[in-house]
Amino acid sequence: MSAVILPSQGVWEGEKRQLFLAPMSGVSELPYRLLAKECGADITITEFTSSSALTREVTKSWARVESHKDESPFIPQIFGGNPEEMVQAAKMLDDEADIIDLNFGCPAPKVTKICAGAALMGQPDDLVEMTASIIENVQSPVTAKMRLGTGSGHHNVLEISKRLEEIGVKRICVHGRTLNQKYRGEADWGTIAEVVEEVGLPVIANGDIVDTKSAKSCLELTNAAGLMIGRGAIGRPNIFAEIKVGLGWEKEENLPWFNSKWFQYSDVEKQFTSRHWCWNRYVDIARETTGLRSNWLKRHAVAFTKGLPGAKKVRGILHLHQDSEKLADAISKYLKSEN
Ligand SMILES: Cc1cc2nc3c(=O)[nH]c(=O)nc-3n(C[C@H](O)[C@H](O)[C@H](O)COP(=O)(O)O)c2cc1C
Repeated sequence: MSAVILPSQGVWEGEKRQLFLAPMSGVSELPYRLLAKECGADITITEFTSSSALTREVTKSWARVESHKDESPFIPQIFGGNPEEMVQAAKMLDDEADIIDLNFGCPAPKVTKICAGAALMGQPDDLVEMTASIIENVQSPVTAKMRLGTGSGHHNVLEISKRLEEIGVKRICVHGRTLNQKYRGEADWGTIAEVVEEVGLPVIANGDIVDTKSAKSCLELTNAAGLMIGRGAIGRPNIFAEIKVGLGWEKEENLPWFNSKWFQYSDVEKQFTSRHWCWNRYVDIARETTGLRSNWLKRHAVAFTKGLPGAKKVRGILHLHQDSEKLADAISKYLKSEN
C-alpha cells in the first residue's frame, strides 16, 4: 500500500506526482478505470455508491463497486448520511478493497438531502465521528474526498482535514469549490494550497485540471501530492499520458498509440489516432470484464468523438446500430477514418 499512498512530498520541483482519474458517476465504471490506467492514470476510484443500497444488497449498487483482478489498487467510494450504514458498507467492502474512499463532496440534492456527500461538511462533528467509526471497523486505509466547505459561512476544509488527519485518515482529495457552487465558477487552488501547507497528510488537488498547462499551474501553486482529473478525462482518457509527456515524465515514443508517422501528424490527426486506440482498448477491456453494455458504449461514444471533425456523424451511428458489437465497430471505423 505504501506505493499507493505516497507521503506528501513538499515543494514541487517538476518531479512526477500521482495522477488520479476522478470518481465520476456514469463515467468511471470498471472498463473505463482500467483503460485510464493504461493511458497513464496512476490511481482510479469507483463511482460513488450508496452505503444504504450496499447494505440492502441492491445488485445495481454492488455492480458499481465491481472490480477485476487487473484493477490495482481497487478503491471503492461510498456515501451516506447514516453512520451505521456507512460502517456496515465499509466492512462489506473491506476484504476486497485496497483503500476505502468516503465521499464528502457530492452536491447532488438527492445526496445532500439525506445529509450525505458535501452536506456533511456543514456538520463537521458528524463527518469526523462517522469517519472515525469507519476507521475503527475496517483494516483498509480510509481516504476522503471533500470540497472547500458548504459555501454558507467560511471554508472549513482545513479544519476538517486537520481533524481527519488526527483520527487516522490516510489521504484527502480537495475539489476547490463549495457545495453551493456545484460546478460553477473557477476552482480555488489557493485554498487547496493552504491545506497542503497545513496538514501532514498527502493532499490531492482537484478542479479544472484539463491539460498540461493547468496541471503545471496547479502543482506550482498547491504543491499537492497528486492531481485528480474529472471532466477533462471524459472521452479523453489519453489526457493522463498527454500531461505526463507535457511535464517530461514520459516519452511520447512510449505511448501505446505511438506510430512511425506520429511526429508528422497534425494535432487533429494525433487526437484521432490516440482516441481510436483508446476506443478499441475500451471495447476490448469491456468485452473481457463486464461485457459490452449498450448504455455505457453510447455515452462514451459521444464523449470520445466530441470536438472532432465530423463528430455529428456519430449521432447517426448511434441511431443506426442497436447491437453493441456493431456500434463499437462503427465508432472505431469513424475514429480510424482520419488517419
Ligand atoms: C459526471 C460526473 C460525475 C461525478 N461523480 C462523482 C462521484 O461519483 N464521486 C465523487 O467524489 N465526485 C464525483 N464527481 C466530481 C468529480 O470527481 C470532480 O470532483 C469534479 O468534476 C471536479 O473536477 P474536474 O474539474 O476535474 O471535473 C463527478 C463529476 C462529474 C462531472
